Amino acid sequence: MRSMFEADPGRAQSFSLLLDDLLLDYSKNRITTRTMELLVDLARERGVEPMREAMFGGTHVNNTENRAALHTALRRPPGEALLVDGTDIMREVAAEREHMRAFSEAVRGGTWRGFTGQPITDVVNIGIGGSDLGPAMVCEALASYADQGPRIHFVSNLDGAHFARATASLDARTTLFVVASKTFTTLETMTNARTARQWFVQRAGDESAITRHFVALSTNTEAVAAFGIDTANMFRFWDWVGGRYSLWSAIGLPIALAIGMNRFESLLAGAHRMDRHFREAPLHANMPVILALLGVWYHNFFDACSYAVVPYDQCLARFPAFLQQLDMESNGKSVDRDGDRVTGYSTGPVVWGEPGCNSQHSFFQLLHQGTRFIPVDFLLAADSNYPLGDHHRLLAASCLAQSRALMMGRTLEEARAAMQSDGLDDAIIEARLPHCVFEGNRPSNTLAYRRLDPFTLGMLIALYEHKVFVQSVIWNTNAFDQFGVELGKRLTGPLAKALDEGDAPSMDSSTANLVRHLRGRPG
Ligand code: F6P
Repeated sequence: MRSMFEADPGRAQSFSLLLDDLLLDYSKNRITTRTMELLVDLARERGVEPMREAMFGGTHVNNTENRAALHTALRRPPGEALLVDGTDIMREVAAEREHMRAFSEAVRGGTWRGFTGQPITDVVNIGIGGSDLGPAMVCEALASYADQGPRIHFVSNLDGAHFARATASLDARTTLFVVASKTFTTLETMTNARTARQWFVQRAGDESAITRHFVALSTNTEAVAAFGIDTANMFRFWDWVGGRYSLWSAIGLPIALAIGMNRFESLLAGAHRMDRHFREAPLHANMPVILALLGVWYHNFFDACSYAVVPYDQCLARFPAFLQQLDMESNGKSVDRDGDRVTGYSTGPVVWGEPGCNSQHSFFQLLHQGTRFIPVDFLLAADSNYPLGDHHRLLAASCLAQSRALMMGRTLEEARAAMQSDGLDDAIIEARLPHCVFEGNRPSNTLAYRRLDPFTLGMLIALYEHKVFVQSVIWNTNAFDQFGVELGKRLTGPLAKALDEGDAPSMDSSTANLVRHLRGRPG
């Protein structure tokens, strides 16, 4: 890469894309113009364009579950009809959005009152996976836009510590629980929801007060009613919204409660902007397609089994966790859409990351000098939501320094010269020299945006959603099912029983031994 930059002063321009304020610089990759042409040919041959149309048009692209995947419909402007299986889903989407608006404005404006007549100060979202990660990530990212909204807390884990800590300082009179579950059957969520109901009723002393303090976000009306939540307080979505693609639906209610419905709609508008770009731009100038192809390039041609996402943006601290579900639950498949075992290539990468600069002081050593080949996505705002002295300039400089260092590396001669200018002894220099060489030629993308506002965040999330989708088309996986989470769920019931009984004689010796150990009956 270093020599390619030296040979071509226009390289950055040739390998950059701009969409409004969002710049994707992908010039620090091991690519030439020819590489990109061939990768675009691959996308075309694998049918990315017709599959893209199929997804946007409401075809049942989720073939194993015989469903559409229409998260893009949730962010379309109102008024444009979209027929799915004969129904104009946009009318239902608009109605649910109005419901969200009325409710979020009532809570934020203080006209929705708790059982003692006090306004809501705290909202606890109970959900897991897609019913948690997206809203939690967005609420954290856009906290500076929350102005007069209630405080939002997220409880996802079955570990009682999560619920206990989140509610420790809350007052039942001013707390609203949002039970978020597409299916309304998920073990973790329903266990936390029952605990929340108990917590609340103990304090309120009156079951009927639940109506003012519990709302549900779900597709399952019967289960919501059976749980005891008034279905007038239920916000609906549909089976064509996948869990990890659902933050744009009623699952986004905590976001609307935090930042207001207008800003939530600005998030939707940003995602829609990316949808239009993805749908309309030619493959070679299409941001999600380019990101997807670079991922395929490293994953399948260089055996890079993971990629790191490093936002130099503390507000995006939960973005890597959100992407883990988005990418790994979508493309972590070894059977293709046709039911055949994937052979000859690998599918979904491992996604991981942490915000910079923290990550510089933890895993960057390995990125720079380790034996693994790990491409990186950097994310960086031009302006901070929290301007503070010289912080942002130094943060931005650190981000640019890391991508430049990964790309350029440092030769033996450069390392020697650096140590000489630091005044080190010759003997020390010679001993240390091999450790101070950086191979370089390590790829990264940089996504640079003006400011992390709701619109931009919507664009960024949709960018990765479509990237994952394009890769699924290339790998012929169904990005919208997740059968791989089933087995562990099924085994949980019998193991809960075994823990009660203190033994699991019919199970493998490891599991049985662990059960006995946990129940204090070793041997
Ligand atoms: O992890 C499996 C999964 O089904 C995810 O796909 C989903 O986001 C999560 O569980 C939560 O599901 P639900 O919203 O139905 O509670």
